[in-house]
Amino acid sequence: MALTPEIETLIRRLPKVELHLHIEGTLEPEMVFAKAARHAVTLPYPSVEALRAAYAFGDLQSFLDIYYAGCDVLRDEDDFHDLCWAYLERAHADGVVHVEIFFDPQTHTARGVPYATVHRGLRRALADGQQKLGISSAMILCFLRHLSEEDAFATLEQAGPFVGELAGVGLDSGERGNPPRKFERVFAAARALGLKPVAHAGEEGPAAYIREALDLLQVVRVDHGVRCDEDPALVAELAARRMPLTVCPLSNTKLRVYQRMEDHNLARLLAAGVCVTVNSDDPAYFGGYIADNYRAVAAALPLGAAELVQLARNAVEASWLPAARKDELVAQIAAVA
Ligand code: HPA
Ligand code: ZN
Repeated sequence: MALTPEIETLIRRLPKVELHLHIEGTLEPEMVFAKAARHAVTLPYPSVEALRAAYAFGDLQSFLDIYYAGCDVLRDEDDFHDLCWAYLERAHADGVVHVEIFFDPQTHTARGVPYATVHRGLRRALADGQQKLGISSAMILCFLRHLSEEDAFATLEQAGPFVGELAGVGLDSGERGNPPRKFERVFAAARALGLKPVAHAGEEGPAAYIREALDLLQVVRVDHGVRCDEDPALVAELAARRMPLTVCPLSNTKLRVYQRMEDHNLARLLAAGVCVTVNSDDPAYFGGYIADNYRAVAAALPLGAAELVQLARNAVEASWLPAARKDELVAQIAAVA
């Protein structure tokens, strides 16, 4: 269904908060080629178009294989800066006013890139984003769940000198066979350092993984979480607690969590009172940034202006911004509604 001009205008003008964004997932093919040339890396693809054509995934793992391979061109502090800055410029064009970004240090430290290089490059871009674009931000260090608990602990230790600049820790990568309970102790250590816990759960993994993330990792948001609807008691609890879900609609259809956007449960969860938010996950790979995700759900699901405004307000509520800034953003959303 085509969007009406009124809905298109509303989506464009809504102040947006993005809470589920992997900065490595914003690596566009053009930047892969530019960075490969800079570092004299030979790519297994002849052109930008050929690489983009390879972005056809059947499931989470087939995506992750290409996503981790692409990261090989990110080698020095400027690379991480440029990656993040390019994202911030696109996000600004989409009306993003605040972003809480995920980054995957283990993808880089495993290749010999020091933690500090990654952190400093991202931090510099985020500071530029605040100063030049007015985008506020927070950093969330993600542990790769296909790696060991020991590796996660080593990563937390490497982040030690920078912990004061991190807002939280997350858990990503292949969900199946890597339940949240594998990381119970490292999450406890991270919480003791004052870091807020979040975790991917219920994307390809079962509703039981969402329950584990809540009970064992004590998460304050669930990333994806869409498979909660396999457990009606869990949906009721998420709604009663206003536990946010950071949903990524284009990611879910690209990775075949849902075959068609019309099948997505976002509108039903919203109607059930769950604090659902709309996010882009890995926009360079999934065919759209945050505004495109709003457009895609507005076109396919029973969501009118009031529901789109509620989604934008939910993201403010679910963010880690100070209360005064939340009030300001809620007022700005009301002004365009
Ligand atoms: N799921 C799990 N791991 C990820 C994702 C995702 O959607 N994106 C980047 N790493
Ligand atoms: Zn994700």
